[in-house]
Amino acid sequence: MTKAVIPAAGLGTRFLPATKAMPKEMLPVVDRPAIQYVVSEAVNAGLNDVLMITGRSKRALEDHFDRVPGLEMALEAKGDEKKLSLVREATGLGDIHYVRQGDPKGLGHAVLCAKQHVGNEPFAVLLGDDLIDARDELLTIMIDVQAKTGGSVIALMEVDPQQISAYGCADVSTVEGEDFVKINHLVEKPSIEEAPSNLAIIGRYLLHPRVFDVLQKTKPGRGNEIQLTDALEELASAEGEGAGVHAVVFRGRRYDTGDKLSYLQANVVLAAEHEDLGEDFKTWVKEYAKTLD
Ligand code: G1P
Repeated sequence: MTKAVIPAAGLGTRFLPATKAMPKEMLPVVDRPAIQYVVSEAVNAGLNDVLMITGRSKRALEDHFDRVPGLEMALEAKGDEKKLSLVREATGLGDIHYVRQGDPKGLGHAVLCAKQHVGNEPFAVLLGDDLIDARDELLTIMIDVQAKTGGSVIALMEVDPQQISAYGCADVSTVEGEDFVKINHLVEKPSIEEAPSNLAIIGRYLLHPRVFDVLQKTKPGRGNEIQLTDALEELASAEGEGAGVHAVVFRGRRYDTGDKLSYLQANVVLAAEHEDLGEDFKTWVKEYAKTLD
């Protein structure tokens, strides 16, 4: 598997006014734009061919992953190797392509925009609001499961039952002798009463290309959008080549940058772990915490 798809066409309304003139994917998490963590994660798992699904007002994304010769020359002339390598970090990542989702009609529709580029091979989808700690290697585990099962593989995480309505939710069965599970049913953003479990879909998917045929026929679902969850629900009970959905239940470190509060929490956690800033930041946080009620 070599291809990763990163949907990045969303309007970022949860972060207004910060995202009025800037894509939400460019909001910094400590010192790098959120999208850079996600691209690095894909490339580290061997997915060097990255397709971003973008839209209007997303030019900054293309600029970020492109070379800036003037800036590099100025840093070189100053002998500032450290900043030079930070600037080059984003441009040395994989082979990045872009396609526009002219009319955003949901995550399923965004994934369908990748059909031409992906062709007939399994591929990964990474959602930019979820950052997975680089030490946890979730994608690598999922790639192994996909190789074993042949269908599609998703990632689940246990959440507080009160929060399940913010996610796709899974009904699963164990698979004898394996540490992955089989998906029986998926439901997009159920109420607490409807939810079959507290297992939430998180933003990492390995999809069999058969998903494109299903998505082409998937009707708008929750929020009147074409939902990837609905297409996967159909694949879970389908028969034949490319059918079946399994899942890895992730117990590692996930940072949510999807709304203002969780974004701030992600920044605090990652700043505390940052190799240059971490110690000073933690000292300050402890002092600051004492001043709070
Ligand atoms: C999307 C999916 C949902 C999943 C979530 C993970 O929802 O539709 O099934 O649980 O990502 O972050 P969104 O957060 O884009 O509304």
